[in-house]
Amino acid sequence: MQHVKVEPKLISTLEDVTPTVVTAMAATPDARLRTLMESATRHLHAFIIETLPTEAEFEKALQWIAALGHHTNETNNEVVLAADVLGASTLIDLINNDGMQGETMSALLGPFYRGKAPACACGDCIARSDTPGPKLFFQGKVTGVGGMPIAGAKLDVWQASPVGLYENQDPDQEDFNLRGVFHTDADGSFHFVSVKPAGYPVPTDGPVGELLHAQRRRPMRPAHIHFIVSAPGYKTLITQIFSDTPEALADDVVFGAKQQIVGDFVEHRAPHPDHPDTPSPFYTCEYQFRLTQGESTYPVPPISGTKS
Ligand code: BEZ
Ligand code: FE
Repeated sequence: MQHVKVEPKLISTLEDVTPTVVTAMAATPDARLRTLMESATRHLHAFIIETLPTEAEFEKALQWIAALGHHTNETNNEVVLAADVLGASTLIDLINNDGMQGETMSALLGPFYRGKAPACACGDCIARSDTPGPKLFFQGKVTGVGGMPIAGAKLDVWQASPVGLYENQDPDQEDFNLRGVFHTDADGSFHFVSVKPAGYPVPTDGPVGELLHAQRRRPMRPAHIHFIVSAPGYKTLITQIFSDTPEALADDVVFGAKQQIVGDFVEHRAPHPDHPDTPSPFYTCEYQFRLTQGESTYPVPPISGTKS
């Protein structure tokens, strides 16, 4: 009997490419990786076939992606920033944290979480260097979704200065300025002193800024304070408490603002009863963080923040 040798089929048309590439990945033993990469490949190819980029456009796109890496270092994470301005971080956040158990709504981590912030006692001020701006007295409780207080819950707090810079971006601020870690008292309560946050532009000196400019997008974030609230046996909450106008909240360049996490920042002009030397006006904000039961995890910091 004559043996017929079947030659492997080579790509000859546009339509051959996607099935050939997907077949090449088919033996991936990790089923989840196989699913993710097959879907990513199909969508990427469909996008390319739909938009038919020129070679110059493809080259530009690859240079842009490479520049994300070149602009990522100890104090800036351009890759996270890109995911944020494209809305990917908020999609991932909403898929994984839907608030359906009654827990506080979450918001994206952002690129400026450092980790290893100084431990603080309740009542401490997180402004470690001279940080002009109205004082803020923030207090609250950490509870389960049913209102039961959680003692010893950890609150990792960070915010930008009133000039709109995180300390890792600003040589005039001390290391870890406006960052601190607090724990709740036996009744689930905590309080700390800071300065009222202001809105700020995300970094625009890299490829993300170039894209925002080309898209005529404002690079602004509404004023907010970041919190990671965690306790054993509870799902870790990563969120931001906002303080800004409805216009600024709707114009968040990273789509992080949500109505449920807008805080009530109250302006006061009379002297503070416990801190009579506080200049007027000062602000207070009270917020209750509700956690749902689940796994207590912790995010990997996008930056180390070490200033060289
Ligand atoms: C932030 O809130 O720190 C942030 C979030 C996304 C992009 C840039 C900054
Ligand atoms: Fe922020």
